[in-house]
Amino acid sequence: MKIAFYDAKNYDKNSFNHLNEEYGYKIKYFDYKLNEDTAKLSKGYEVVCAFVNDTINEDVINILHEQGVGLIAMRCAGYNNVDFEAAYNKIHVVRVPAYSPYAVAEHALALIMTLNRKTHKAYSRTRDNNFNINGLQGFDLYQKTIGVIGTGKIGQIFASICKGVGMKVLAYDKFPNETSGLHYVDLPTLYAQSDIISLHCPLLNDTHHIVNESSLNQMKDGVMIINTSRGGLIDTEALIDCLKSKKVGYAGLDVYEEESEYFFEDFSEEIIDDDILARLLSFPNVLVTSHQAFLTAEALENIATTTFESIISFENNHELVNEICYNCDKKNVCKPEEQTKCF
Ligand code: NAI
Repeated sequence: MKIAFYDAKNYDKNSFNHLNEEYGYKIKYFDYKLNEDTAKLSKGYEVVCAFVNDTINEDVINILHEQGVGLIAMRCAGYNNVDFEAAYNKIHVVRVPAYSPYAVAEHALALIMTLNRKTHKAYSRTRDNNFNINGLQGFDLYQKTIGVIGTGKIGQIFASICKGVGMKVLAYDKFPNETSGLHYVDLPTLYAQSDIISLHCPLLNDTHHIVNESSLNQMKDGVMIINTSRGGLIDTEALIDCLKSKKVGYAGLDVYEEESEYFFEDFSEEIIDDDILARLLSFPNVLVTSHQAFLTAEALENIATTTFESIISFENNHELVNEICYNCDKKNVCKPEEQTKCF
């Protein structure tokens, strides 16, 4: 069984090659992202391994299907870039539902801590022998209120970390988990009472631009917004307006709605054409990281293990336990009991 591995980075190659000493698959690593032009490179491969910014639309799926690809193994948890309707009955799609929810939850806390206590600025100053602390004032997280939107694997771990530093946690989820011990409220209450709001829900039709002009206006003045989930959850232009008006006090973004062209690549010698991204990067109270929340040793090992296990199941015609359910995603009407079954 041969695997065409798209958008391969050194850390991917290291973790997959290391484990592949056990599995012995033939893997061809492509630097390119998967799209209509590069899909043809997978001719002769049964499995395609793809990532968050690959394009897996109807055209790409049809090309892969015609070339005999039977499995798309997403080496990530999110799957908003896959057209499941097009894939249905043609190609199986699996993902890695949980590789390290701790990695993402801890990165969300890192964004909060950095924005608040400005350690990134302190680092630059002291490296330059500048020991002045003017402008580095933060606030105690203790007893502040954090609103967590989406209380799945990552959201729940993030909430418990926040409780650990003495924060009050308010939660919102379309399918509240009543055994989580979290205090669920409706979105208007969460917006009105939270000093910090952190997004941990998937990008779906009903969560697209969940942070928009209207929701931002319901939030506290000076609110901190954290997004380690998917860029499309935030209407970036509305966020920029609120940063300019100081309605939003801080934004920590590991994801950006138009990230696919820039994130994971080095543009340090080039001009950024995306004016919205450039504007975001110009604010002193905005911290952008390049979709790195998942990037821990433990997560990479789990991603490789789960992906190989899915490929073995596919090869042996066994049940694909990490297959993504077309009906749930497309109709977006999961009931909790269906959700457990599908995810
Ligand atoms: P999960 O599936 O365990 O939890 C998602 C939660 O969101 C569920 O409780 C679900 O009921 C809830 N939800 C669904 N629709 C909602 C709505 N309309 N409003 C509020 N909540 C809603 O997913 P997990 O593992 O916690 O991951 C969350 C997201 O984190 C993923 O969808 C992915 O986009 C993102 N992610 C980002 C990474 C990064 O490196 N930045 C890495 C891994 C995941």
